[in-house]
Amino acid sequence: MRMIRFVPVLALALCATACSAPAETVLPDPTAAPTAAPTAEPTPEVTPEPTPDIQVVDGITYVNGILIANKSYSLPADYAPGVSEEAQSAFEEMAAGAAQDGINLYIASGFRSYDYQAKLYQRYVDRDGKEKADTYSARPGHSEHQTGLAFDLNEVSDAFIGTPEAEWLAAHAHEYGFIIRYPADKVEITGYKYEPWHVRYLGKETAAAVYESGLCLEEYLGIDSVYAD
Ligand code: DAL
Ligand code: ZN
Repeated sequence: MRMIRFVPVLALALCATACSAPAETVLPDPTAAPTAAPTAEPTPEVTPEPTPDIQVVDGITYVNGILIANKSYSLPADYAPGVSEEAQSAFEEMAAGAAQDGINLYIASGFRSYDYQAKLYQRYVDRDGKEKADTYSARPGHSEHQTGLAFDLNEVSDAFIGTPEAEWLAAHAHEYGFIIRYPADKVEITGYKYEPWHVRYLGKETAAAVYESGLCLEEYLGIDSVYAD
């Protein structure tokens, strides 16, 4: 009988010991990947904008090695290289490729000298005023046509928009080393209205990279296109 009475007392004592014992200690797993110390704020993902490498050689601006003529970067008045042979043969290759798809491409305007551009621009200013002219015609020294690396193809007017030739160019020009230099959705950045006929030669690798990026050349290089005055 004495033993029977003693058992609950012993059980109670054991329970009291177990219940007051600390919870099981979990030792760190030495094979687990280290965890970063918690911080108060999550670190935002920051992709730094690459700084363009701008070199001016004999008054000609190269951004990341690419010759640039736009509203921000001008060419010397006496810079007159004529049409680039490389761009010309790339155009011929492109025209042959287009012909296989039943598309006829021809050059309406290629190299333009500083003086020629000056007369052209002045004619547009006289007709439409300076503000309007600046939306579609480059001031002398600022035209890509003076580089010899740009062509206006076929119909140089809004009538070209949406034609099979314009659609073909938009889809294939980069395969031959050209980009549509003034896209419809980049007017505020290039500084020019949509010109589906104006192509700029960059070489196949760079043209494909610009095309794939979905950016205009200014965005791609991290530069602007704004007249100083
Ligand atoms: N139409 C282009 C912007 C030029 O005049 O060069
Ligand atoms: Zn043009």
